[in-house]
Amino acid sequence: MPIPRTLLSRDEPNDLDLRLVAGAWPDGLGGEMVLSAPHPDTFDGPHPFFGEGMLYRLSLTPGTHGAPADRFAWRQGRIDTPSARLRAKRPDVFTPTMIGVQSPFGTVNAANTAPLPWGDRLFTTWDVGRPVEVDPVTFSFLGEVGHRDQWQAFELAPQPVLPMVMTTAHPVVDPDRDVLWSVNTFFGQLHVVCWDGDGPVTTWPIEGAVIPQSVHTITQTRDWLVVGDCAFKVEPQVLTGGERTQPANHDGPLYLIRKDELEATPAGRPVGCSVFRVAPEINHYYAVYDDADGVRVLFEHTENADIAMTQRPDDLDALGRPCDPALAGLYGFPMSPDRNTVVQFDPATGEVTHRAELRDPSMLWTRQLNAMDWSAEGMAAPTSHHMVNQGWRPEAVFQRMLALYEDRVDRTEWPTEETAPLVMSCTRDDLAVTAVHEFGLDDFPTSPIFVPRDPRDPGVDGADGGDGRSRYAGRDPGGHDGWVVVPLLNDSGFRVEVFDAADVGRGPVAVLDAAGATVPFVLHSAWMPRAVPAQERPRLRFADELDRVGELDDDLAACVLEVAAEIDDGVPI
Ligand SMILES: [Fe+2]
Repeated sequence: MPIPRTLLSRDEPNDLDLRLVAGAWPDGLGGEMVLSAPHPDTFDGPHPFFGEGMLYRLSLTPGTHGAPADRFAWRQGRIDTPSARLRAKRPDVFTPTMIGVQSPFGTVNAANTAPLPWGDRLFTTWDVGRPVEVDPVTFSFLGEVGHRDQWQAFELAPQPVLPMVMTTAHPVVDPDRDVLWSVNTFFGQLHVVCWDGDGPVTTWPIEGAVIPQSVHTITQTRDWLVVGDCAFKVEPQVLTGGERTQPANHDGPLYLIRKDELEATPAGRPVGCSVFRVAPEINHYYAVYDDADGVRVLFEHTENADIAMTQRPDDLDALGRPCDPALAGLYGFPMSPDRNTVVQFDPATGEVTHRAELRDPSMLWTRQLNAMDWSAEGMAAPTSHHMVNQGWRPEAVFQRMLALYEDRVDRTEWPTEETAPLVMSCTRDDLAVTAVHEFGLDDFPTSPIFVPRDPRDPGVDGADGGDGRSRYAGRDPGGHDGWVVVPLLNDSGFRVEVFDAADVGRGPVAVLDAAGATVPFVLHSAWMPRAVPAQERPRLRFADELDRVGELDDDLAACVLEVAAEIDDGVPI
């Protein structure tokens, strides 16, 4: 059965009220699931990853956020960023390319990749634009993080209003310092970025830290930040519409940077690092916060996949069949089985210890995204790691990719037929598989979340909520005590399936369905204990970033001033 053709449908998304159609809704399962996505009206561009940001939110308590008492609110909206507002006013001057949507204003900040909750605040991120804060209830734009002058923009063509900022879609919130750690790469030089939630961002260049490709993730321990080169390769000729000639780098540098050295160094001054190399390719990786026994990192390798390449209508797939034009724009799925490793790094000695590996060509293909316990307690001592895999999908592998990766791909590992998508759990320390549940071949599971059982009351103020727990923690943190919630895209209708995190193999304990309505491609998801209106606080105004508006033609400059006034006045897009 094929990948859902509605995956890349350009139909306008709708709010839905989902109904329980199987199982029983677990007592104590609540809070909000939030998902970032590119808006589908730009799926006809060269890459769906560059569509303007939108958010979906599924309320895990029935009868809330406008849903009838027995229904679950699925709400959605396009984020009215300055980029989105300018494009809505002057669509004629925006051009989608393989490196983003360009215009005389600069580059669209799509903010479409990952929702990042921080307490009751909600941000949405991507790799080539500043994080954007939105209202968790209405998804309306509140501000970008850090004035453009505090970041280094990658400005090959003039970007007088919309800077292209090379950063990461996965910044992290430091539970001890209550700050956001991120990165800013500038012509390959790595800078670490720190933000306290209100003021300017602070940056430090990292001595000797070069990023050959890009950074998709930063992860942390109590004392260290970990930043690796990630497998999104942009060759120079691609900037001007040329073809890729090389595969993504098979290995890359990984930098460990001490937090206390950053804190002791004035902003803008260089800070040292410890350098390691990691292979094969990486995009997502997660350190155990407690580093008393060393820096341990779980890598979800993306071996022989290429998300920087997309399928075209005239491509041939892995089996030599013509690709379906309905999938044009879909990124290159893996040509090799998934590989996950746990690696321990000793910055003092340079020693690298491979502690565990998980690789099963019979079953584990096209790992999509994971569900884990993001509470401070869960990060310090993780127990379970849940992953969604989409199965071996030859129609999402195309011959142009294979030609680049030919020497690295072992075709004898390809299953003889498509394999089922699945959700699986493994132990975090040794990656032992503890449970597997297979979906239907026509399902396309995406972006799962972990929801802790019996979380602390999010309405209680204070760092520990009066009972010693952090804001996102359940009673028994780590990832095994709670639920794994998996959205499933399917041409016959969208579903959400809920699994007991301790026993995913039992199958779903509850299923929500959209009565045949479909949902298009989405990216990352996250869990928040609640969605409440954003608080007033000092935020960056778009109007305060317009010192270069005079570089634009008069009509475009007028358009910018109009957008700035509309944002200040709260005028809808
Ligand atoms: Fe990601």
